[in-house]
Amino acid sequence: MSVKKLAVLISGGGTNLQAIIDATSQKKINAEIKIVISNREDAYGLVRAEKHGIKNMCISSKNLTDEEYSEKLLEIFKKEEIDFVVLAGFLKILSKDLVMQYKNRIINIHPSLIPSFCGKGYYGIKVHEKAIEYGVKVTGATVHFIDENADTGPIIEQRTVDVDDFDTPNTLQLKVLVIEHEILVSSLKKLCNEELEVVGRRVIKRDVKRGGKDEKGIDKRL
Ligand code: GRF
Repeated sequence: MSVKKLAVLISGGGTNLQAIIDATSQKKINAEIKIVISNREDAYGLVRAEKHGIKNMCISSKNLTDEEYSEKLLEIFKKEEIDFVVLAGFLKILSKDLVMQYKNRIINIHPSLIPSFCGKGYYGIKVHEKAIEYGVKVTGATVHFIDENADTGPIIEQRTVDVDDFDTPNTLQLKVLVIEHEILVSSLKKLCNEELEVVGRRVIKRDVKRGGKDEKGIDKRL
Protein backbone atom coordinates (compact mmCIF):
# COMPACT_ATOMS: atom_id res chain seq x y z
CA MET A 1 0.00 0.00 0.00
CA SER A 2 1.40 3.41 -0.95
CA VAL A 3 2.48 5.90 1.70
CA LYS A 4 -0.20 8.59 1.68
CA LYS A 5 0.73 12.22 1.09
CA LEU A 6 -0.84 14.66 3.53
CA ALA A 7 -1.43 18.41 3.48
CA VAL A 8 -2.14 19.83 6.93
CA LEU A 9 -3.94 23.19 7.12
CA ILE A 10 -3.67 25.27 10.27
CA SER A 11 -4.48 28.70 11.67
CA GLY A 12 -2.96 28.60 15.13
CA GLY A 13 -0.76 26.82 17.66
CA GLY A 14 -0.72 23.53 15.84
CA THR A 15 -0.85 21.01 18.71
CA ASN A 16 -2.96 18.76 16.47
CA LEU A 17 -0.36 19.19 13.74
CA GLN A 18 2.30 18.18 16.28
CA ALA A 19 0.35 15.00 17.07
CA ILE A 20 0.39 14.13 13.36
CA ILE A 21 4.10 14.99 13.03
CA ASP A 22 4.88 12.68 15.98
CA ALA A 23 2.72 9.85 14.68
CA THR A 24 4.11 9.99 11.15
CA SER A 25 7.73 10.21 12.29
CA GLN A 26 7.16 7.22 14.59
CA LYS A 27 5.57 5.41 11.61
CA LYS A 28 2.27 5.01 13.45
CA ILE A 29 0.48 6.31 10.36
CA ASN A 30 1.12 5.16 6.80
CA ALA A 31 1.68 8.74 5.67
CA GLU A 32 4.08 11.61 5.24
CA ILE A 33 3.26 15.28 5.66
CA LYS A 34 4.11 16.86 2.31
CA ILE A 35 3.12 20.38 3.24
CA VAL A 36 1.75 22.53 6.06
CA ILE A 37 -0.25 25.60 5.05
CA SER A 38 -1.46 28.38 7.32
CA ASN A 39 -3.69 31.33 6.51
CA ARG A 40 -1.93 33.28 9.29
CA GLU A 41 1.70 34.22 9.19
CA ASP A 42 2.06 34.14 12.99
CA ALA A 43 0.66 30.62 13.42
CA TYR A 44 3.06 28.72 15.69
CA GLY A 45 2.25 25.57 13.73
CA LEU A 46 4.50 26.89 10.94
CA VAL A 47 7.42 26.90 13.39
CA ARG A 48 6.61 23.31 14.38
CA ALA A 49 6.70 22.28 10.70
CA GLU A 50 9.96 24.14 10.09
CA LYS A 51 11.59 22.48 13.13
CA HIS A 52 10.79 19.09 11.62
CA GLY A 53 11.99 20.01 8.14
CA ILE A 54 8.48 19.94 6.68
CA LYS A 55 7.68 22.21 3.76
CA ASN A 56 5.45 25.00 5.03
CA MET A 57 3.96 28.25 3.85
CA CYS A 58 1.53 30.96 4.72
CA ILE A 59 -1.11 31.79 2.17
CA SER A 60 -2.79 34.89 3.47
CA SER A 61 -6.51 35.05 2.92
CA LYS A 62 -6.52 38.84 2.94
CA ASN A 63 -8.39 40.29 -0.06
CA LEU A 64 -9.30 36.83 -1.35
CA THR A 65 -12.75 35.27 -1.56
CA ASP A 66 -13.18 31.71 -0.22
CA GLU A 67 -13.26 30.54 -3.85
CA GLU A 68 -10.04 32.34 -4.78
CA TYR A 69 -8.34 31.04 -1.66
CA SER A 70 -9.44 27.48 -2.36
CA GLU A 71 -8.19 27.71 -5.94
CA LYS A 72 -4.73 28.49 -4.62
CA LEU A 73 -4.94 25.51 -2.28
CA LEU A 74 -6.13 23.22 -5.05
CA GLU A 75 -3.17 24.19 -7.21
CA ILE A 76 -0.78 23.23 -4.42
CA PHE A 77 -2.59 19.96 -3.59
CA LYS A 78 -2.33 18.93 -7.24
CA LYS A 79 1.33 19.92 -7.51
CA GLU A 80 2.21 18.01 -4.33
CA GLU A 81 0.00 15.05 -5.36
CA ILE A 82 -1.84 15.21 -2.05
CA ASP A 83 -3.94 12.17 -1.09
CA PHE A 84 -5.58 13.52 2.06
CA VAL A 85 -6.04 16.99 3.55
CA VAL A 86 -6.27 17.52 7.31
CA LEU A 87 -7.91 20.65 8.68
CA ALA A 88 -6.19 20.92 12.06
CA GLY A 89 -7.61 24.06 13.61
CA PHE A 90 -7.99 25.74 10.21
CA LEU A 91 -10.46 28.60 10.43
CA LYS A 92 -11.30 29.15 6.78
CA ILE A 93 -14.19 27.84 4.73
CA LEU A 94 -13.25 25.81 1.66
CA SER A 95 -15.08 26.28 -1.63
CA LYS A 96 -17.67 23.77 -2.86
CA ASP A 97 -15.45 23.06 -5.84
CA LEU A 98 -12.49 22.05 -3.67
CA VAL A 99 -14.72 19.94 -1.40
CA MET A 100 -16.20 18.15 -4.43
CA GLN A 101 -12.80 17.50 -6.00
CA TYR A 102 -11.52 16.04 -2.73
CA LYS A 103 -14.72 14.30 -1.64
CA ASN A 104 -14.09 12.06 1.38
CA ARG A 105 -10.43 13.05 1.31
CA ILE A 106 -10.56 16.12 3.58
CA ILE A 107 -10.97 15.61 7.32
CA ASN A 108 -11.54 18.07 10.14
CA ILE A 109 -11.16 17.94 13.92
CA HIS A 110 -13.88 19.73 15.91
CA PRO A 111 -13.77 20.17 19.70
CA SER A 112 -17.31 19.01 20.51
CA LEU A 113 -19.59 16.05 19.97
CA ILE A 114 -21.15 16.94 16.63
CA PRO A 115 -24.06 17.73 16.10
CA SER A 116 -23.79 19.67 19.39
CA PHE A 117 -21.93 22.98 19.59
CA CYS A 118 -20.86 23.11 15.98
CA GLY A 119 -21.49 25.02 12.77
CA LYS A 120 -21.09 28.70 12.03
CA GLY A 121 -19.55 30.69 14.89
CA TYR A 122 -18.55 27.63 16.93
CA TYR A 123 -14.77 27.64 16.98
CA GLY A 124 -11.97 27.85 19.53
CA ILE A 125 -12.88 28.67 23.12
CA LYS A 126 -16.45 29.62 22.08
CA VAL A 127 -17.32 25.93 21.70
CA HIS A 128 -16.35 25.23 25.31
CA GLU A 129 -18.03 28.38 26.64
CA LYS A 130 -21.28 27.23 25.04
CA ALA A 131 -20.93 23.71 26.45
CA ILE A 132 -20.41 25.05 29.99
CA GLU A 133 -23.24 27.57 29.59
CA TYR A 134 -25.64 24.86 28.40
CA GLY A 135 -24.70 22.64 31.32
CA VAL A 136 -23.89 19.44 29.43
CA LYS A 137 -22.31 16.70 31.54
CA VAL A 138 -20.22 15.27 28.72
CA THR A 139 -18.59 16.89 25.74
CA GLY A 140 -15.81 15.66 23.49
CA ALA A 141 -14.25 15.82 20.06
CA THR A 142 -15.20 14.69 16.56
CA VAL A 143 -13.20 13.87 13.46
CA HIS A 144 -15.31 14.06 10.32
CA PHE A 145 -15.09 14.34 6.56
CA ILE A 146 -15.72 17.77 5.12
CA ASP A 147 -18.78 18.34 2.98
CA GLU A 148 -20.16 21.57 1.57
CA ASN A 149 -21.54 22.85 4.90
CA ALA A 150 -19.85 23.67 8.22
CA ASP A 151 -19.29 20.61 10.46
CA THR A 152 -21.93 18.46 8.74
CA GLY A 153 -19.87 15.79 6.94
CA PRO A 154 -19.83 12.06 7.81
CA ILE A 155 -18.38 11.32 11.25
CA ILE A 156 -15.24 9.17 11.42
CA GLU A 157 -14.61 9.10 15.16
CA GLN A 158 -15.84 10.69 18.40
CA ARG A 159 -14.68 10.51 21.99
CA THR A 160 -16.13 11.97 25.16
CA VAL A 161 -14.82 13.74 28.25
CA ASP A 162 -16.80 14.49 31.42
CA VAL A 163 -17.66 18.07 32.25
CA ASP A 164 -16.92 18.41 35.96
CA ASP A 165 -18.48 20.97 38.32
CA PHE A 166 -15.24 22.92 38.60
CA ASP A 167 -14.54 23.04 34.85
CA THR A 168 -14.17 26.39 33.11
CA PRO A 169 -14.04 26.87 29.32
CA ASN A 170 -10.25 26.86 29.59
CA THR A 171 -9.93 23.65 31.62
CA LEU A 172 -12.45 21.98 29.32
CA GLN A 173 -10.52 23.08 26.25
CA LEU A 174 -7.37 21.45 27.63
CA LYS A 175 -9.16 18.19 28.43
CA VAL A 176 -10.74 18.07 24.99
CA LEU A 177 -7.45 18.90 23.26
CA VAL A 178 -5.90 15.71 24.66
CA ILE A 179 -8.57 13.52 23.07
CA GLU A 180 -8.50 15.56 19.85
CA HIS A 181 -4.91 14.48 19.36
CA GLU A 182 -5.79 10.84 20.03
CA ILE A 183 -8.74 10.56 17.69
CA LEU A 184 -7.13 12.62 14.94
CA VAL A 185 -4.19 10.21 14.85
CA SER A 186 -6.36 7.10 15.06
CA SER A 187 -8.72 8.37 12.32
CA LEU A 188 -5.79 9.21 10.07
CA LYS A 189 -4.30 5.79 10.69
CA LYS A 190 -7.49 4.09 9.47
CA LEU A 191 -7.88 6.49 6.55
CA CYS A 192 -4.32 6.04 5.33
CA ASN A 193 -4.61 2.26 5.67
CA GLU A 194 -7.69 2.45 3.41
CA GLU A 195 -9.85 0.90 6.12
CA LEU A 196 -12.77 3.30 5.86
CA GLU A 197 -15.86 3.23 3.72
CA VAL A 198 -18.54 5.92 3.54
CA VAL A 199 -22.06 4.52 3.23
CA GLY A 200 -24.61 7.34 3.19
CA ARG A 201 -23.77 9.38 6.29
CA ARG A 202 -22.08 6.48 8.02
CA VAL A 203 -18.34 5.85 8.00
CA ILE A 204 -17.79 2.16 8.54
CA LYS A 205 -14.82 -0.13 8.65
CA ARG A 206 -14.18 -1.70 5.29
CA ASP A 207 -14.43 -5.42 5.83
CA VAL A 208 -13.26 -7.61 2.99
CA LYS A 209 -15.11 -10.64 4.41
CA ARG A 210 -18.45 -8.82 4.43
CA GLY A 211 -17.75 -7.03 1.17
CA GLY A 212 -15.66 -3.96 0.39
CA LYS A 213 -12.69 -4.01 -1.94
CA ASP A 214 -9.75 -6.35 -2.07
CA GLU A 215 -6.12 -5.26 -2.51
CA LYS A 216 -6.58 -4.82 -6.26
CA GLY A 217 -9.53 -2.50 -5.69
CA ILE A 218 -12.07 -5.08 -6.85
CA ASP A 219 -15.40 -4.92 -5.04
CA LYS A 220 -15.86 -8.32 -3.37
CA ARG A 221 -19.63 -7.90 -3.32
CA LEU A 222 -19.85 -7.98 -7.11
C1 GRF B 1 -8.54 22.77 18.35
O1 GRF B 1 -9.40 22.81 19.44
C2 GRF B 1 -9.30 22.38 17.14
O2 GRF B 1 -10.25 21.40 17.35
C3 GRF B 1 -9.97 23.67 16.84
O3 GRF B 1 -8.97 24.64 17.04
C4 GRF B 1 -8.06 24.16 17.99
C5 GRF B 1 -6.70 24.17 17.34
O4 GRF B 1 -5.73 23.69 18.16
N1 GRF B 1 -10.64 23.65 15.58
P1 GRF B 1 -4.25 23.48 17.64
O5 GRF B 1 -3.91 24.65 16.75
O6 GRF B 1 -4.19 22.18 16.92
O7 GRF B 1 -3.41 23.48 18.88
